[in-house]
Amino acid sequence: MGKIADMYYTVDPWLVSEKGFEKSRSEVSESIFSLANEYMGVRGYFEEGYSGETLIGSYFNGVYENSPQENHVKYKGIVARSHFMVNAVDWLYTRIWCGDTSLDLANAEIDNFERHLDLRTGILIRSFHWKPNKETKVKIIFKRMLNMEEVTQGYQNISIETLEGDADLTILMGIDFNTIHKGEGRNFWKEQEKNSNHFSASMIAETSTTKQKVYAGFSIVASKSLDTRIVERDKFIGFEFNVKLKEKEVFEVERRVTMIVNKTGIDERNLSQIGSQALKLQLSSNVVCERNRIHWKNVWDQEDIQIEGDTRNQQGIRYCIFQLHQTYYGQNPNHNIGAKGLTGEAYGGLAFWDTETCCLPFYLLTNLSAAKNLLEFRYYTLPQAKERAKQLDCEGACYPIATLNGHEACDLWQHASLQFQPSTGVAYGIWHYVNVSHDKEFLYSHGIEILIEVSRFLVSRGAWSTNGEFGFFGVMGPDEFQMMVNHNAYTNYMAKRTLEYTLEVLEEMKTIDRISFQSTLAKCGLIEKEYQNWQECAEKMVVLKDENGLIEQHDGFFKLPELDIHSIPVDEFPLYDHWSYDRIYRNNMIKQPDVLMFLFLYNQSFGIAEKQINYEFYEPKTIHESSLSPSIHSILASELGKEQEAYQFFEFATRMDLDNFNRNTREGLHTTSIASAWMNIVYGFGGVRTDGKELILSPTIPEKWKSYTFKITYQKRLIQVKVDRMTVKISLLKGDILKAQIYNELTEITNIALVIDR
Ligand code: BGC
Repeated sequence: MGKIADMYYTVDPWLVSEKGFEKSRSEVSESIFSLANEYMGVRGYFEEGYSGETLIGSYFNGVYENSPQENHVKYKGIVARSHFMVNAVDWLYTRIWCGDTSLDLANAEIDNFERHLDLRTGILIRSFHWKPNKETKVKIIFKRMLNMEEVTQGYQNISIETLEGDADLTILMGIDFNTIHKGEGRNFWKEQEKNSNHFSASMIAETSTTKQKVYAGFSIVASKSLDTRIVERDKFIGFEFNVKLKEKEVFEVERRVTMIVNKTGIDERNLSQIGSQALKLQLSSNVVCERNRIHWKNVWDQEDIQIEGDTRNQQGIRYCIFQLHQTYYGQNPNHNIGAKGLTGEAYGGLAFWDTETCCLPFYLLTNLSAAKNLLEFRYYTLPQAKERAKQLDCEGACYPIATLNGHEACDLWQHASLQFQPSTGVAYGIWHYVNVSHDKEFLYSHGIEILIEVSRFLVSRGAWSTNGEFGFFGVMGPDEFQMMVNHNAYTNYMAKRTLEYTLEVLEEMKTIDRISFQSTLAKCGLIEKEYQNWQECAEKMVVLKDENGLIEQHDGFFKLPELDIHSIPVDEFPLYDHWSYDRIYRNNMIKQPDVLMFLFLYNQSFGIAEKQINYEFYEPKTIHESSLSPSIHSILASELGKEQEAYQFFEFATRMDLDNFNRNTREGLHTTSIASAWMNIVYGFGGVRTDGKELILSPTIPEKWKSYTFKITYQKRLIQVKVDRMTVKISLLKGDILKAQIYNELTEITNIALVIDR
């Protein structure tokens, strides 16, 4: 793939560490050392201020702004105004002076710089020695943490020790709403209210156009008594104080921060009161640190993947799981998973089809209620999806390609108007969730409504060709290098499965739950006459295929000019930055899996020969310009026995950000692609499949590994799979006996570990 690992962080199974500070990597490290707790996220920026390259980024899930400019293209159906997750409050704002010298790592004299992120606690620690003048040397330690349970809370601890000489320090600690949203080059906050007393201060600020209010308040507790002075500026409030330290003396200060986003329907007039009350009750960082340790222990007990014999990838996969869990663990059905999580501004913090296709499997098998919440997000945003379908002159519901609030935020019309994989992805997500959980209650109360509306959309957007076939004309599939094509195989196939499933659920409800059936029909205004022809649309759906089972990505794909992707010089990647936009559409090069994607999603519906012929045809044409691409290839390569290929793709996905493979980690982490890194082990090497009637397992093991172990929950069972070079050991840790297909044989998993020779 021509992508090279940029190995920088120390390899350790549980820590991500940086030893010594390299300015050129400072923004990459800000992304890598991001902390989040689903409610909010903060990049690993230097809180004391830094005059080098930096993105001081702090975000709240669901707090967004409308794009200042309207799209100048005004045709009907083209999104007029986009929205994005807005950079919010710098709640760690600190300035430190020793005498007249201010601390700024861009030019300060420092040594012994170290930064560690502990994946077992979520605590980020940075320490270094600073020589502000000839006589003085101090050791500074910054610690930060987000509360994983009381998610409105954050902590900062600063410790300063005089190693040489005395130090006359001035410290300013504040909360600052002057943050610049880098992508737009401006600030979006308006100050509403400020309050302070000697050791606590707070502010309420509001976003400019969406009028979302955020309360941010903090208090400080120090190891010495302090004489604090309030410092107030527009959108800033803080305390300044002096600390005189003798040689070898240590000063410590703890900042407790409460941040409340008014999105839960609290009375706005009470926000200040609610905030200050919560701030008063905020526990010390020691107590919270212990609680976080327990939180993370529970996470690792359930979600950890252990790899023996490969520390680099052990660290890589743990880092992926850590970041994914930080981004989302199912607190709130109004949250979703942005392509970059809560770690940067790229992709506007928006959620894509990645949620249902790449992230959902992780939650389905490790945290089922979070999986359900992700689908509920789509249920709550069904009205916006219906509105979008109308804008496109269609019926039913069309889910947005990118969104935070349910409305389409993508102002590139070719994506927003031509790509329907979010809609079929949501339908697929419901099907997948129900297949794994058997949660018919959700299906009959929420899922079916979505399925009906998506089916309506598909039938109204699709069309009959003159020869009596059904399909989609003028679309773009997941391979975004082919625009406005007819009969894109992915779109057609996924639509076919959506229609079939909707009809199957309606039939099932009619038989076993007539009351829900009738009320659903009434609620959706659906009469039998309307859905009578859905079966026919599904049956006559075109999926072009030759006699050997080679699927044509779209009508005419096989006749496109051939491009040898290896002839493209490495420095021309990413192509979007180097090629004229239309040039990428003029050949048969593929951005990311399209045919191979649905062969993965509905894996059990295709035979091995069909997968093989399609893999061998499409893989060499794929440039993996989307970070979602390598894992899907790795999983299929594993299934096809292409072990080396599988491993190469796997490594790339697992250390995507730690090794900055795509050279853009500084913009934020590839959060949704790290979800597919998890799939890569469980579905890839583990051979897990969840799209059949039974759970399927057919593990393999990469040559380099001694063993690997993972756990999954499946239909209320907790199952552990350990694979080593000789055997596969499958244990039922909780729940009743389960029948599963293991290496193609229907076998019972019981509490007596099943040991299979490989
Ligand atoms: C990919 C999309 C994906 C988006 C966000 C794009 O580069 O082509 O499939 O949804 O990134 O991850």
